[in-house]
Amino acid sequence: MMMFWWFLALLLGPVDIYRAHECDVFTYLDLYHAIIGTSLYVKLLLYTRANLTCGQELSHHNLSAQPQFNLTKPTTFVVHGYRPTGAPPNWLNNIIEQLLARGDMNVLVVDWNRGAANINYLKVVTYSRDTADNLTAFIRNMQENGASLSSIHMIGLSLGAHITGFVGAKFNGKIGRITAVDPAGPQFNGKPPEDRLDPTDAQFVDVVHTDMDAFGFRKPLGHIDFYANGGADQPGCPLTILSGSGYFKCDHQRSVLLYLGSLNRTCNIRAFPCTSYTDFLDGLCMDCDQFKPAGCPVFGYDIIEWKESLVPLQQTKAFFTTNKQTPYCKTSYWVDIVTWNRDTRWGYITIKLHNGSEVTEATINHKASSFKKYSETRLLAQFEKDLQKVHKISIKFSRVNAFKPKYKLRVLRIRLTHLERKDRSVFRHILFPLKCHLFSTWHLFFYFSLSCC
Ligand SMILES: *[C@@H]1O[C@H](CO)[C@@H](O)[C@H](O)[C@H]1NC(C)=O
Ligand SMILES: *[C@@H]1O[C@H](CO)[C@@H](O)[C@H](O)[C@H]1NC(C)=O
Ligand SMILES: *[C@@H]1O[C@H](CO)[C@@H](O)[C@H](O)[C@H]1NC(C)=O
Ligand SMILES: *[C@@H]1O[C@H](CO)[C@@H](O)[C@H](O)[C@H]1NC(C)=O
Ligand SMILES: *[C@@H]1O[C@H](CO)[C@@H](O)[C@H](O)[C@H]1NC(C)=O
Ligand SMILES: *[C@@H]1O[C@H](CO)[C@@H](O)[C@H](O)[C@H]1NC(C)=O
Repeated sequence: MMMFWWFLALLLGPVDIYRAHECDVFTYLDLYHAIIGTSLYVKLLLYTRANLTCGQELSHHNLSAQPQFNLTKPTTFVVHGYRPTGAPPNWLNNIIEQLLARGDMNVLVVDWNRGAANINYLKVVTYSRDTADNLTAFIRNMQENGASLSSIHMIGLSLGAHITGFVGAKFNGKIGRITAVDPAGPQFNGKPPEDRLDPTDAQFVDVVHTDMDAFGFRKPLGHIDFYANGGADQPGCPLTILSGSGYFKCDHQRSVLLYLGSLNRTCNIRAFPCTSYTDFLDGLCMDCDQFKPAGCPVFGYDIIEWKESLVPLQQTKAFFTTNKQTPYCKTSYWVDIVTWNRDTRWGYITIKLHNGSEVTEATINHKASSFKKYSETRLLAQFEKDLQKVHKISIKFSRVNAFKPKYKLRVLRIRLTHLERKDRSVFRHILFPLKCHLFSTWHLFFYFSLSCC
């Protein structure tokens, strides 16, 4: 029997029979490899809609050897970054499946784990140049076989973001799109454009920053740079080293989770073009008239829809805040308050929205707000959830200085305007003082409940 199979295999060509059902996988390494160091090997794994979970290694030189690689379809490269432990990235399967759910394309995972797994980061930085040269040769080969540069999208994570930039520069920015997911900072901050990613590297370059005070890059690198929660510290991430390794990577990895959330359309995160995060929090940048009719840019995969309006602007910084876990998107309201205290009051506002089944809260405390008699104070309130049919609002007013005597904030009028959906806005005239008593009881008025401390 064995002989028969051997004979058949020889007749039909042994490799083909087995290759068709075998999957090629991302290189698995461990800390041992990282310590002794690895030398560069660039493995290209192709994923298509024919089988979302089964990768096929491509030949760098003979593209027709893999018939699934159809060059008339768009190609998305996914380029990982530094891998200090050698383990495969845990987001890999997720991003492959989500990309293929979005479009019929070739997803090419650039596995340069041999090279990226090395405790010597400086060595890995030099390999990132070699990886870029290798990919450049491969893309030239694709071009010779009929692929267009416009149909190429490269998604680079961390160090991988600069690799995509180096490749893009070799093609004089003719590659369709580069997405940089928290591009690496160390060894790249402060470098001239040719030594890092920059907006001239592709027709459209979009970037998200989540850890610019540690592993990420500080300055803008693309046509649009999203700074999630200001770009440095992410909600829900440990603030001290006592929390273990999460302290080091949580902020940096959040960029990937946010990007995956945009791919699977968990929720749309609107971002607001602004010069600084503080100005954004102060509500100074809520006007997106220049992007009419699309409105403020939506973070992530779909930002390509704003390409025509963003590219002429050359460089745009955009800000948003997120929740500490998925779904990450927040819901923004304008809060306009008119008060009638004789003297100007300073304090922090906390607002709760109730709709009978759920409650959501927003605290405006990045700086003290001032309330002047009969003039409207406009605040930006960002809630965790988007509640339907809000029928009760609670407000808490806290003084700036807890040692000063207590005082009341006398509210004359309050208006909550949903930034996205005007039908979810709430407006009330109230002639009821927000008393400033610690532990005060809840006051109900119309369908408002007022409380303060
Ligand atoms: C790219 O790297 C692969 C594996 O490391 C190698 O086989 C291939 O020849 C390289 N391509 C070029 C153009 O050097
Ligand atoms: C994808 O490939 C895997 C491994 O060969 C196989 O088990 C699975 O059935 C394939 N799925 C489809 C939809 O072909
Ligand atoms: C490329 O691969 C195809 C399919 O396996 C094969 O027929 C062809 O001879 C190869 N070409 C070269 C130059 O090796
Ligand atoms: C390649 O993709 C194009 C566009 O989706 C399609 O029309 C064509 O049939 C595909 N070719 C092969 C060999 O599958
Ligand atoms: C979408 O991706 C996020 C990762 O950011 C994940 O937490 C969430 O469960 C995914 N949702 C769906 C519906 O797949
Ligand atoms: C409250 O809002 C949530 C989220 O929009 C919604 O699912 C729920 O049905 C609402 N409850 C009521 C009673 O309207």
